[in-house]
Amino acid sequence: MNRTPMLRRMRAVLSLLALTVAPGWPGVANAQDAGRLALETLDLSKVTQGYGDAHARRSVNDNPLTIKGTVYLTGLGTHADSSFLIDLKGAATAFESWVGVDDETGGKGSVVFEIYVDGKKVADSGLMHGGDAPKRLTAPLTGAKRLTLKVTDGGDGVSYDHADWAGAFLTLADGVAAKPEAATVPVVPPRMTVPPLDPKPAIHGPRITGATPGRPFLFLIPATGTPPLTFAAKNLPAGITLDKTTGILSGALLKNGSTDAQIMVRNAQGRASRKLTIVGGVRQLSLTPPMGWNSWNCWAGAVDDAKTRQSTDAMLASGLAAHGFQYINIDDTWEAQRDAKGEILTNAKFPDMKALSDYVHGKGLKIGIYSSPGPKTCGGYEASYQHEEQDALTYAKWGMDYLKYDWCSYSDIAKNPDLDAMKQPYRVMRAALDKTSRDIVFSLCQYGMGDVWQWGPEVGGNCWRTTGDINDSWGSLYGIYSAQDGHEKLAGPGHWNDPDMLIVGRVGWGNPHPSRLTPNEQILHISMWCLLASPLLIGCDMAQLDPFTIALLSNDEALDINQDTLGQPAGRRAKSGEGEVWARPLADGTTAVGLLNNGVEEEDVTANWSDLGLRGRQPVRDLWLHKDVGAFADKYTVRVPAHGAILLKIGKGKAL
Ligand code: GAL
Repeated sequence: MNRTPMLRRMRAVLSLLALTVAPGWPGVANAQDAGRLALETLDLSKVTQGYGDAHARRSVNDNPLTIKGTVYLTGLGTHADSSFLIDLKGAATAFESWVGVDDETGGKGSVVFEIYVDGKKVADSGLMHGGDAPKRLTAPLTGAKRLTLKVTDGGDGVSYDHADWAGAFLTLADGVAAKPEAATVPVVPPRMTVPPLDPKPAIHGPRITGATPGRPFLFLIPATGTPPLTFAAKNLPAGITLDKTTGILSGALLKNGSTDAQIMVRNAQGRASRKLTIVGGVRQLSLTPPMGWNSWNCWAGAVDDAKTRQSTDAMLASGLAAHGFQYINIDDTWEAQRDAKGEILTNAKFPDMKALSDYVHGKGLKIGIYSSPGPKTCGGYEASYQHEEQDALTYAKWGMDYLKYDWCSYSDIAKNPDLDAMKQPYRVMRAALDKTSRDIVFSLCQYGMGDVWQWGPEVGGNCWRTTGDINDSWGSLYGIYSAQDGHEKLAGPGHWNDPDMLIVGRVGWGNPHPSRLTPNEQILHISMWCLLASPLLIGCDMAQLDPFTIALLSNDEALDINQDTLGQPAGRRAKSGEGEVWARPLADGTTAVGLLNNGVEEEDVTANWSDLGLRGRQPVRDLWLHKDVGAFADKYTVRVPAHGAILLKIGKGKAL
């Protein structure tokens, strides 16, 4: 053991901080040992995790790695859901590590550490909470090819899940020159086919929409086909008219009730028509999950009027509006101070909000805005506390159609809130919105606190975030989607679970880069958000959409699952190893099924009819291959790429 003066100094400093040093600490010297490789000396940029970055010898928040008072001088700090894949190159015989939640969470957080060798789980820590004593995990590796170190969220979301692999070492095989290396999931061609653009007309998007009688109604009929397209409609409810060249339905409903209109589109190649149900009634909004764009995941604080207009134009030019994407939502950072009368003002990035909303509406699209119930937004801008009615009236005056209302600094108002205190700010804004003369979709954002999926409808939310913020990493995507099971009970038409905005295309919170998800991870992402009946809010640079992203976002067969009128989100029906089966019933009597593979190797996943409530021979359609794959009795098994998904429709449906 080589105890250098520097190490002695570090030890002295640590003891001054009243921290004890772990049994594994001399590993710093061992990191250089021929026989052992310290985990943190591998390329940590390949760790994918739900929040922040993995740090060598430091916690995720950059403090000394500390578990229940024990400080470790080697190891890495990560955050659930975390996945670290190591290509062993046949060069390791064993792995060992202490594991636990880092003390920096102050006792909060709960995680499970898992070790997989060549796709099989060989060790796990069981559920560990903040403040628990470290546990020791080991795995024999002789002859093994791949090691995957995972940290999952313990089933309660990823808040405070700061997880340490401490004093973690690979024992190296004698006489093997190769060294283990950090790896990423193999990037294989996406399992999808992209049909050529169909010149014939077709209608897509929601089959039902609603509004409060007397309030502005706007609906762009999503339709594809070689232009020029011309539109027609029969049996429109009183008060609504159609612009035959743009396909924009507008006006104001005169009365409550549901009308089945027939909408039609034609071009030189032919015609298409389908039923659009238009529902008049109070709060008949978001009868299918909202589809559109939000500025945050791409631009964060760099959003402005020009980028919002550019996104509006691109929504139409890219063809995505023709598949049902309608909302253009401005997230945080548009706000300035209030004037002498308390009216909220826009900052220089948004010189004229009414003119901007007129621009968006002029194209047949809708516009959204963002605020918080506390004094400040998450970005530190002026928010709505004690100005709720005034702000709701301002949004209505500007022509806003959607409000994302983000808890943020409301924690300063309601410290340690009970359930009632959590609901309160949302009730207040709901009442304020109801007093305006505009329909405004109400999107609750409070990261799932108090199991919001159990009371979101009660406070009048049209959707509610179920988790913390998403980022474009497998760790984040996996952590979020796998936590959605069981939340489906109260979601349905008019009120939806929201597992956060999309992370395909160029995203980057002010520094856009191509999504770091592999193509198959992106297919899994879109498949799951469709199965979950989640709002589909694109989070990328709309002006730089690449063909793959457009193909992902314009798969009408997948979008039809998301927009299904029954509105019943999927739940997890089976789990076996790294494979998962999620399913939801559809309005036409068929079942939508996702077969997912969370593992780092491709593997077979089976949809068993017994898990899906199906019987007998059933036709199966693969929605990314756009192909009927046959009729099967009892089950359907298919090879699913690593971190990939197959989206199926099973059963013979009736015409809608
Ligand atoms: C977060 C929210 C993000 C984004 C951000 C703006 O709380 O979850 O989606 O809105 O605030 O500051």
